[in-house]
Amino acid sequence: MNSQTVLVTGASSGIGLEIARLMAQQGYELILLARRKHLLDALAQELRASCQAKVEVLEADLAGPDAAQAVVDVLQARGLQVDVLVNNAGFGLLGDHLALESQSQFDMVQVNIMALVQLTRLLLPGMIARDRGGVLNVASTAAFQAGPGMAVYYATKAFVLSYTEALHEELCRTRLHVSCLCPGPTDTPFVDVAGMQGVKFFKLGAQPAAEVARFGVQAFQANRAVAISGFKNAFAAFLVRFTPRLALRKVIRALTRV
Ligand SMILES: NC(=O)c1ccc[n+]([C@@H]2O[C@H](COP(=O)([O-])OP(=O)(O)OC[C@H]3O[C@@H](n4cnc5c(N)ncnc54)[C@H](OP(=O)(O)O)[C@@H]3O)[C@@H](O)[C@H]2O)c1
Repeated sequence: MNSQTVLVTGASSGIGLEIARLMAQQGYELILLARRKHLLDALAQELRASCQAKVEVLEADLAGPDAAQAVVDVLQARGLQVDVLVNNAGFGLLGDHLALESQSQFDMVQVNIMALVQLTRLLLPGMIARDRGGVLNVASTAAFQAGPGMAVYYATKAFVLSYTEALHEELCRTRLHVSCLCPGPTDTPFVDVAGMQGVKFFKLGAQPAAEVARFGVQAFQANRAVAISGFKNAFAAFLVRFTPRLALRKVIRALTRV
């Protein structure tokens, strides 16, 4: 699937940055999107030098209501076509719904859900017309149960999982790949952004971002609908199926306490 162009949202850091590195090594052309342009520029320079990759940088804040359309307008103006869309940009916030500031939680819904759906809806028709490429959405193991203490974040990831699975099925007669990567705790700045330093989840061990990225890209290339990164995380998600929801809520409540 190389010589295709991949748009990676949230490529300035963590899992997105590692997905971009890996796909550049595999011969894909890259479009790197995030707010922190200096980090994207540095990564672009690295990838051009190390992989002779063709790399474009797109500075964008996906929290704006019209952000996705604005991104597609810039792509068109620059004559860039997207074959593979990696919807990775996202963030979480630790705290009870009423304790957290409301605008940041609305922004989270905008970035984690709305921008992801809009980019997908805007870019899929081109992929269908060319009959190649696809979408890799990054959800989380948070998608499998409710998350008291991080209510909005868990709910956004449940949306991403459900949406992606449905899309995978709707497009199964095309040559497009549609996959949902569900990482568990991963060693990235996500923890600092979410204010989760010291949370029990992460003390139990986090996977390296490069490992999660490799797993996700392989899952996408194999067109797996749902890919849970790490044996412990996959096993935990399996157990969720047999656990009463009340018990799950209590467990997550305990785990999200600092
Ligand atoms: N780390 C974990 O434990 C974990 C576990 C499960 C799922 N995930 C998911 O994995 C994905 C990547 O997270 P990560 O762990 O790699 O965290 P990260 O290192 O903090 O990366 C988040 C990326 O999203 C971008 N982003 C955030 N808000 C944005 C906005 N308004 N507009 C555009 N880009 C924005 C950030 O770029 P800028 O700040 O430069 O804009 C950054 O590149 C997220 O969807 C997250 O929910 C993470």
